[in-house]
Amino acid sequence: MSTTRNVAILVGSLRKESLNRKLAKALIAIAPPPLQMEIVEIGQLPLFNQDWEADPPQAVRDFKARIAAADAVLFVTPEYNRSVPGVLKNAIDVGSRPYGKSAWSGKPGAVISVSPGAIGGFGANHHLRQSLVFLDVPALPQPEAYIGHASKLFDEQGALKDDSTREFLLKLLQTYAQWIERNRAR
Ligand code: FNR
Repeated sequence: MSTTRNVAILVGSLRKESLNRKLAKALIAIAPPPLQMEIVEIGQLPLFNQDWEADPPQAVRDFKARIAAADAVLFVTPEYNRSVPGVLKNAIDVGSRPYGKSAWSGKPGAVISVSPGAIGGFGANHHLRQSLVFLDVPALPQPEAYIGHASKLFDEQGALKDDSTREFLLKLLQTYAQWIERNRAR
């Protein structure tokens, strides 16, 4: 695999000190070739309104163009009330319309949920997968990634403290790279 594969990372938290954003940055730092990953911001998006779906605001057009240009999409999300944070669901909805013009269709996906709690955002992870089925985003089934106790993972600079977590994430990205190759030409 010599060609670069551009992966858009969607982070489901807008918090400055977000653990999910720290994890996304750690992924960017360890991404193996051919993966080239970058965070596509979602906090600037307006709340979806079907009234403007045929003539959307510029922020929506720009966001859809970024997703359309990516080879793959990776979601790194907290769990809010056992489900997907509204800000991430909004971005998914914004990118999905108008019907038949979704930016997500066919992009190989992966889901990582991150929480300071013990369950590692399992509920959000699987609720998100439900939407991805409808959006025709084939989501990497294994390894599953429910990253719990996440407030202990990072040092003061936001770097991963723990070798076993780094190794797990690297293995996940290597498997995801193969998944992208298998699914991108569907
Ligand atoms: C949470 N949190 C949370 N955690 C969890 O494991 N399961 C849950 O259902 C919830 N629900 C929830 C709802 C709301 C509205 C908030 C603000 C928080 C805690 C959450 O995991 C914690 O705040 C994380 O640190 C959020 O992720 P970031 O912002 O650090 O990436």
